[in-house]
Amino acid sequence: MAIIGSIPRRCVNLPPGSLSSLISCTISGRLREGPAIKKFCKEFGDWLGGAHVLGAASGRSAFQLALEALGLEKGKEIVFPIFTFPVMPMVAKMLGYKPVFCEVDPMTFNSGPEHIAPKINENTGAVLATHLFGQPCPIKEIATLTRKRGVRLMEDCAHACGVRMDGRLVGTFSDVGIFSFAEGKNMPCYGGGAIATADEEIARRAAEILSKANMPEKKAILKKGADIWLKWLITRPEVFGLTVYPVLRLKMLMGQDLMDSDVGEELLESFAASNPQVVRMNNLQAEIGLRQIKRIDAFNEGARQNARMLTENLAGLSGIGVPRSADGEHIYVYYPLTVASTRRNDLRRYLLKNGFDTKITDMSDCQLLKQFHDSSAEEDRSGPREASILEICVYPVISEKSIRRLARVIQSWVQRS
Ligand SMILES: Cc1ncc(COP(=O)(O)O)c(C=O)c1O
Repeated sequence: MAIIGSIPRRCVNLPPGSLSSLISCTISGRLREGPAIKKFCKEFGDWLGGAHVLGAASGRSAFQLALEALGLEKGKEIVFPIFTFPVMPMVAKMLGYKPVFCEVDPMTFNSGPEHIAPKINENTGAVLATHLFGQPCPIKEIATLTRKRGVRLMEDCAHACGVRMDGRLVGTFSDVGIFSFAEGKNMPCYGGGAIATADEEIARRAAEILSKANMPEKKAILKKGADIWLKWLITRPEVFGLTVYPVLRLKMLMGQDLMDSDVGEELLESFAASNPQVVRMNNLQAEIGLRQIKRIDAFNEGARQNARMLTENLAGLSGIGVPRSADGEHIYVYYPLTVASTRRNDLRRYLLKNGFDTKITDMSDCQLLKQFHDSSAEEDRSGPREASILEICVYPVISEKSIRRLARVIQSWVQRS
């Protein structure tokens, strides 16, 4: 059993000092309100190149804030990529808008203007362009299209914080950029999210909405903070091998599920039942955010190098699809490996046996979910595309040696099959 050197599906990337921030904010009574919130919004905005930044409690809450601040007429259509995190179109639906889905490029998983243009009509209010898995979509061309057609453009940067196109950070090419600081993302802040905008009017309306919004109670912030710190601890490769990894192996042996979280329709049901509201960012999240701004570029560079090495080592391997690098940078906040959907679980088990835990993606083929099903839409696909994706962690906490070993394990799986 490869306990030593085993690699978790996700490594929580908390910055040094996160535990002391948790303790000091608790002792000083600054878990909720505090000076870090304003400071973080200013510094994150400066880092983005001069945007207005407004903090929220999560990426989905930030999206709700963006939609409410845009103030589109109810009933308007919002165009989403068909393959995305389904909670985002669900937020739009719950606010009274109609999600409409456009195709994505099978290699980059992103939509471009050629996919979005046919979905724009006189009832379209906005487009949410998404930089999926950390790879930038052709945002400049999309912005040209939406400007020409007179619709609003938003960017989902949940997977792409710190990705640049021609030196400019994603999230700044549209009316509103949306960021997530959840524990699985590259810039976790004990949860959190933000919107960024250069539009004074959107910023003013968002600030007004936030001034009336709630913030979780101290106990809930503390519980979430402790929970995420614990996840940070058990996702250190050295600790993971002695704790979660043996449990996963045992579960696999007993034919049980591998601690997978809800996806697709189940995820949407629990989200809808939670009665989502715009919730404000808290002071603890902002303190961690201030620490993260200083290290995010170096962190992303390390993840990028690991992803590049993995791609190089898997190139040309029969039956294994590696993400194609688009223009601009990528970070692969999750590295999406593609195999035949009938073989994905076999590869997942083989990797786990050899010390590599992987994740079933949270992204969904939205048109296939009952919450969005549209019988008038043409369906020419054979099955959900998420069934052929495994997400692999390539964060810099994983050594070059482990990445090379991972590539060898995948090569040996291909040879034996
Ligand atoms: C593409 C995408 N957008 C938005 C979100 C929402 O972020 P949060 O979980 O912080 O609400 C996620 C979360 O996984 C995501 O994957």
